[in-house]
Amino acid sequence: MFSTLKLIVCCFIVCANICRLHAKDCSVLSDDMKFDCQPETDEFATQDRCEQRGCCWQPANSVSENGDGVPYCFYPTDFATYNMSTPEETVFGYTATLKRRTKGYYPNDIMALKLDVYLETETRIHFKIYDPANARYEVPIKTPKVTKKVNVTDYDVKFKMNPFAISVIRKSNNKVLFDTSLSPLIFADQFIQISSSLTSKNIYGLGEHQDKLAHDVTWKRFVFWARDMPPDSGNNLYGSHPFYLNMDNSGNAHGVFLLNSNAMEVMLQPTPAVTFRTIGGILDLYIFLGPKPDAVIQQYTEVIGRSYMPPYWGLGFHLCRWGYGSAENTLNVVKKMRAAGIPQDTQWNDIDYMDQTRDWTLDKTHFNVLPSVPADLHQHKQHYMMIIDPGIASTATNYGPYDDGIKKDVFVKDDQGKPIIGSVWPGKTAFPDFFNPATVKWWENWARNFHDQVEFDGMWIDMNEPSNFIDGSTNGCPNNSTYENPPYTPRVTGGKLWAKTLCMTAKHSIGLHYNLHNLYGYSEMVATHQVLINIRNKRPFIISRSTFPGSGQYGGHWLGDNDSEWSDMYYSITGILSLNFFGIPLVGADICGFNGNSNEELCQRWMQLGAFYPFSRNHNSLYCPSYPVMCKDQDPTAFSTAMQKSTANVLKIRYALLPYLYTLFYHSHINGTTVARPLFFEFPDDPMLAVVDKQFLWGSALMISPVITKGATTVDAMIPAGVWYDLITGQAINQPSTQSVRLDAPLDKINLHVRAGYILPWQYANLTTTETRMNPINLLVALDVKGQAAGDLYWDDGDSLDTVAKGAFSIWQFQAENQQIKSNIIKDGFPSSSQMSLGEIKIFGLKSSPTQVSANGKDVQFSYDTLYKVLTVTNLKLPFNKFNTLVWT
Ligand code: NOJ
Repeated sequence: MFSTLKLIVCCFIVCANICRLHAKDCSVLSDDMKFDCQPETDEFATQDRCEQRGCCWQPANSVSENGDGVPYCFYPTDFATYNMSTPEETVFGYTATLKRRTKGYYPNDIMALKLDVYLETETRIHFKIYDPANARYEVPIKTPKVTKKVNVTDYDVKFKMNPFAISVIRKSNNKVLFDTSLSPLIFADQFIQISSSLTSKNIYGLGEHQDKLAHDVTWKRFVFWARDMPPDSGNNLYGSHPFYLNMDNSGNAHGVFLLNSNAMEVMLQPTPAVTFRTIGGILDLYIFLGPKPDAVIQQYTEVIGRSYMPPYWGLGFHLCRWGYGSAENTLNVVKKMRAAGIPQDTQWNDIDYMDQTRDWTLDKTHFNVLPSVPADLHQHKQHYMMIIDPGIASTATNYGPYDDGIKKDVFVKDDQGKPIIGSVWPGKTAFPDFFNPATVKWWENWARNFHDQVEFDGMWIDMNEPSNFIDGSTNGCPNNSTYENPPYTPRVTGGKLWAKTLCMTAKHSIGLHYNLHNLYGYSEMVATHQVLINIRNKRPFIISRSTFPGSGQYGGHWLGDNDSEWSDMYYSITGILSLNFFGIPLVGADICGFNGNSNEELCQRWMQLGAFYPFSRNHNSLYCPSYPVMCKDQDPTAFSTAMQKSTANVLKIRYALLPYLYTLFYHSHINGTTVARPLFFEFPDDPMLAVVDKQFLWGSALMISPVITKGATTVDAMIPAGVWYDLITGQAINQPSTQSVRLDAPLDKINLHVRAGYILPWQYANLTTTETRMNPINLLVALDVKGQAAGDLYWDDGDSLDTVAKGAFSIWQFQAENQQIKSNIIKDGFPSSSQMSLGEIKIFGLKSSPTQVSANGKDVQFSYDTLYKVLTVTNLKLPFNKFNTLVWT
């Protein structure tokens, strides 16, 4: 009897499974076409659960490096999803309703959605999918509000109605850029998923992660959740940038941005395809048509906001370490740098300057004389920066920032309405809610109070993911909340959303931490930017650890706690390039490495590379390997005289080129172009360059090919087709086609090449940017095969506010052709432009020596290097504004 019953039950289960299987179409899918229906951890994923979702189960045996592989559980082609009403044309584009009839497998599906498609510009299409009945959280950053569609677009948009899918096609070549038909749209309250095809496997962006520049599409998962985590492949790191750039095999690029700040994952798979999976908010998606890669970034930053103009001194060299131990010691390092003749603009202090690591205080024993440090620095035309953390000590007695903060009600609250308490350096801490205007006032008040004692020039804002040494709070987190334990948790480091940060139910003045977590650092940047302006009335300089799209409008970023390892030196290149894609061109990594002891060779090579980070700072940790052993000093003066000399030289090259770098920042500010960019940005149709990420460019014209391998004295550099001149000697490399070239790279040399066809403005370097800026401007002219070149210079006073908006700047354009160089001032708003002078002009690639050279019609002395074919005209001493031609015959 018992076994008959068992048999019937068994038959029933098997039949049910077979019936389930037959009800859906699981056939013919190649592995690449399988979209994961069970992205949960392996422990969760079972055949039963998979089939309960209405999905297909087929074990596969490929697993990629990071544990993901061909999904065992995938959507059948006829998986139930939304159907679309006939799209209606509107003034901004199209609108339609999306409806599903059956409930999906995550709770609280939104059964009826609205789709709005905005044809915003010729190269930008934007669509939103949201719940028309109940307002949902939307990211509170400013984006363009377009109410009227454009008439001409570079794209077509197509819809599929049953089931719903949208696709975007590039008109010029009929390539499908975005197509959501490969996998069903899912839109539940806390699980939203949309997939699209990619045009090729060349995909970049998706930060902040440590990875190669071009990501691997073999089942790779990227998690977007701000986290205090030393950069390591596979982890979610400090910032969140759900943006990618995809370049097809003929070099046409487009970009996709999902404006969503909730915990998110992006899955790449070899189809090639991408899946966005987020657990809140709405689908607010932008597609940028490029087609040049740099144009994609320009179009993207038009939406998220263009990068700000940093002060000129901020482009100088910065020095920091955790553990100088005293104000005297801090200043001693600066003095040693000066004595060694190594350029330095800014000295920093880490948390050891504070009394018990509390913000806005001084350690009276060791840092009592800290005010004398900025005073000395300022006397020497240098600057001072110090760290500030968001965690405010909450148990200290008579601690103004906390007591006042309580009075003014500035802290993030727990679910009970009390300040949520975590634990950071000072012990128990409360966390300012920077979304609250009262907090910004309070922040300003304490910053101003501190500035009255220690005249700092900028702020280094750390730990703002926000980082918490405990999970959630001192009281844990409410465990019955669907915010703390959502139906689906992206695969965040630490396994839960509140790992090493605040509870998801914590409350900001404008909403839940669940929604706003990824914006905490951004909100602190916005507040701090304004506070610095109010206090100093000069351009703010902020370096923030956590960032979000739009952060570049307020400051820069460093790549966090890297290791003093060669591999991390390599990843710093992909990091700075990616951050440039994200509209944060002011970016660098801790030169010589943060964690672990550096060594002379590594540090010398890293100083060479770091001299070309847009933000150049050497910074070191406190203990190596652990307490109480202090990390060895790694400022350049800690090494041999040969290393110091080589470092001084390379920093002088940086300082010399700052007029060019500053001009690139101007272009970034105005047009959103990248400052540091990969080679493929300039040569998108050259397939040899699509994955090159051990070299990079400043703008279009300067190629940097560092040594990033221990013991190497040569570098195999991929040199794009064309003529490239050695920056120092002018020796030409003439490449009929792109190929790898072995370049000499003795220990004291970094290979730098100027691209033929460009003119770079530069100055002889002093030890600070302030002094360097007083020197005459020189021109480096790199002629192409037709004897032509062009370039420009942006110049202002380098430190006052809004020079661009106020027109207080000058721009010159330079043009070389027909054996002459012309300079044109196209805007003359910099009040001191008449005091600037032209020093020398160097021309690379002049085939033979001229017999006569004249400037503004008057003969001038010159020299000609027959070996490398370089013409040099020195001592021009012409007012820069009056210079208009140099002619050679
Ligand atoms: C973490 C930061 O990433 C690091 O740069 C800093 O030195 C330490 N916090 C101490 O403040």
